[in-house]
Amino acid sequence: MNKSFDPTNRRAFLRYLATSPAILGASRLWGQPAIDIFDPYAPQLITRAQDAINVFDLHEAAKQKYLPGHYTYMSMGTDGGGTLRANREGFKKYQLRPRRLINSRTLDTSIELFGQRYPTPIMIAPCGHQKAFHSEGEIPVARAARTRDTEMVLSSVTSLAVEDVIDARGKPVWYQLYVDEKWETTRGIVKRVEAAGCPVMAITVDLPISNREADMRHRRADNPNCQGCHAPNAGVIPLKPMYRGLERTFSDRSFLDWEYVDRIRDITDMKVVIKGIVTSEDAELAIEHGIDGVIVSNHGGRAEDSGRSTIESLAEVVDAINGRIPVIVDSGFRRGTDIFKALALGADAIAIGRPYLWGLGSFGQEGVETVLDILKRELEIVMKQSGTLNIAEINSNYII
Ligand code: FNR
Ligand code: LAC
Repeated sequence: MNKSFDPTNRRAFLRYLATSPAILGASRLWGQPAIDIFDPYAPQLITRAQDAINVFDLHEAAKQKYLPGHYTYMSMGTDGGGTLRANREGFKKYQLRPRRLINSRTLDTSIELFGQRYPTPIMIAPCGHQKAFHSEGEIPVARAARTRDTEMVLSSVTSLAVEDVIDARGKPVWYQLYVDEKWETTRGIVKRVEAAGCPVMAITVDLPISNREADMRHRRADNPNCQGCHAPNAGVIPLKPMYRGLERTFSDRSFLDWEYVDRIRDITDMKVVIKGIVTSEDAELAIEHGIDGVIVSNHGGRAEDSGRSTIESLAEVVDAINGRIPVIVDSGFRRGTDIFKALALGADAIAIGRPYLWGLGSFGQEGVETVLDILKRELEIVMKQSGTLNIAEINSNYII
């Protein structure tokens, strides 16, 4: 601490701040303005996971550690980021109707999904390439999922093999499937994850193709630091563990249709969930095609630039599904109140993507655990404030 620092003198204090390495570091690294400590809502730069007050604190901490290209890949949306912003803005269009004078000392935040009980309705969405965010890749996330008994959906483009992630999780995880144009490759992956014990497979259908301008600007082929992992001109890491022994087709996925989904459905006993449904028509088709669950998702704003948030898409999907199969929703969830709103609109569970990647990048397993703990705590707060004693009690009476 600077000896001349006098906390009663505002000018001296500001001068002290201006030379503080933490503040300078934050502003220098990402070209963003220094964190304003006079703004009570500005995220703080923390150095220990336990000091995080909300998930945004872990975002700030992660910015200190991510490589710039990896940060861009994680944070970007499609086109100009319209859907990415809409996902957050959408929550503001709904308000809560909390009830008073209900003894809410004892709460039950648990849910049941496909016969499994979980302590909270919060799930870990599939996010690929986690070695870009932590040297151990998906392992710290799997360990956090284990200690918090949280469902983890493993991405097709995981940095580590499904069997290794299951070892770290202590039980089979859900698997997210990217189909390959070559049927034998898709089939090979389905059979492998089934053999590994995965009970549920989520087929992602919202990325026939997408326009990722921010990612394209990062010319990693020109950056010698990136060449150990990224092949020059290739744009992606050449071989992912789940494609070992299989031929991966690097084409777009615009060939994917319901017929292909039926084909997958017919070769597996796993529950099949469709990830990326945002309309009542497709929700109805999912039921017609014998699908076991849907995830209302726009890929965290990384699919199409529809400008429509998933919280706004949720109600029509819930109406169409009408309780016949579970509805999970993701994209933009950052607060307990966001979760509460989705539950009130009829979701059975919600999933998070970037927040746990912030936790992973900043403090590894502890960071991911902290994110899960913060969101659980915030959900408990809003449940107490609303007088809803369990998840089933959170219904449309509590939202407008
Ligand atoms: C994703 N997402 C994703 N989805 C998927 O089905 N397979 C995948 O491999 C990935 N990979 C991926 C990487 C990164 C870096 C991000 C940010 C997202 C989408 C993910 O499952 C989820 O839908 C969103 O992340 C949810 O939105 P939020 O919580 O990130 O706003
Ligand atoms: C992404 C892919 C991996 O969103 O789903 O980057």
